[in-house]
Amino acid sequence: MQNMFKGCGKMKKLLSVVAVALFVFALSVCGLAQAAEKVGVSMPTQSLQRWNQDGSNMKLQLEKAGYVVDLQFGGDNDVPTQVAQLENMISGGCKVLVISAIDGSALTTVLADAKAQGIAVIAYDRLIMNTDAVSYYATFDNFKVGSLQGQFIRDHLKLDSEAGPFNIELFTGDPGDNNINFFFGGAMEILKPYIDSGKLVVLSDQKAKDQCATPGWSTEAAQTRMENLITSRGYGPNGTKLHAVYSSNDSVANGITNALKDAGYAAQNFPILTGQDCDVTSMKNILSGTQSMSIFKDTRTLANQVVKMVDALLKGTKPEVNDTTTYDNGTGIIPSYLCDPVFCTKDNYKELLIDSGYYTEAQLAQ
Ligand code: BGC
Repeated sequence: MQNMFKGCGKMKKLLSVVAVALFVFALSVCGLAQAAEKVGVSMPTQSLQRWNQDGSNMKLQLEKAGYVVDLQFGGDNDVPTQVAQLENMISGGCKVLVISAIDGSALTTVLADAKAQGIAVIAYDRLIMNTDAVSYYATFDNFKVGSLQGQFIRDHLKLDSEAGPFNIELFTGDPGDNNINFFFGGAMEILKPYIDSGKLVVLSDQKAKDQCATPGWSTEAAQTRMENLITSRGYGPNGTKLHAVYSSNDSVANGITNALKDAGYAAQNFPILTGQDCDVTSMKNILSGTQSMSIFKDTRTLANQVVKMVDALLKGTKPEVNDTTTYDNGTGIIPSYLCDPVFCTKDNYKELLIDSGYYTEAQLAQ
């Protein structure tokens, strides 16, 4: 009798071990089912350092979170390539699309397809315009980027205490990128009063955003425009004094730097020149004393935030946002998460870029 009970106990134990094993197995099957969910990540170009970093950060972090990732770069800023890649992501079963648009207004049709199939869309860094298919937007505080750049010029020219006048030329980015409204707008909010009062002078008279745009954020296009300004206005270390050049980002600043160096400017007499992204080329220029500053946007933070958004969307919870008033894409306000940009110079780059593991000193060596 006792043996029978003993046998029964053993049986119970065995059954509960089997039940636990089955439960664990079921859980892992569910886990695998979730892991199989596919996320499309569409970046604009591979020719700029930042988008390579953004793309690989996103892929790495999404894979760590258990997703399958289809990462594509739109050729070299080629809109039809980006559209075709998005079509493939939609037909290939992606459940969420994370998109940094080449032209923010060129994705209306393809994203209507995504919406029709219940695919969620997150605009990454750049807002996608004129489509109600965008659910969320994650970016940096782009207006603050422009304000920081404008403040840098104001403070370094001491516009509030020096008599001036000071000569400045203005450069922003691609006209199809909604961000330039914020970069240029933020900078002009600071600089325009000084331009209006005559303390800052734009000799070329090219002050409107469209006149200052740089198609494709191209280094070559910026270089050509700066060369033309140098020739037509006679800027040079021994010619007309050029005190500052406002540039919205580093790829544009690099073209301006090339033109200024060719005109004979060097570290000791270089105009104040702004940038954004802390690209390696620009950081080297900052350390050697030509470009004055850049804006550090830690793309690891942005990628991390977007991965959290993807995860929330796929788990049916609400993604975290911190701005529900600023970004209207023409169909209404898109709930946004804004990361914080900070300015970077040769005085604080160590703490921002090296100590945080963003770069090694060796990467920034001349
Ligand atoms: C980004 C900048 C970048 C620029 C050119 C903008 O939309 O916000 O960080 O420098 O595009 O790629």
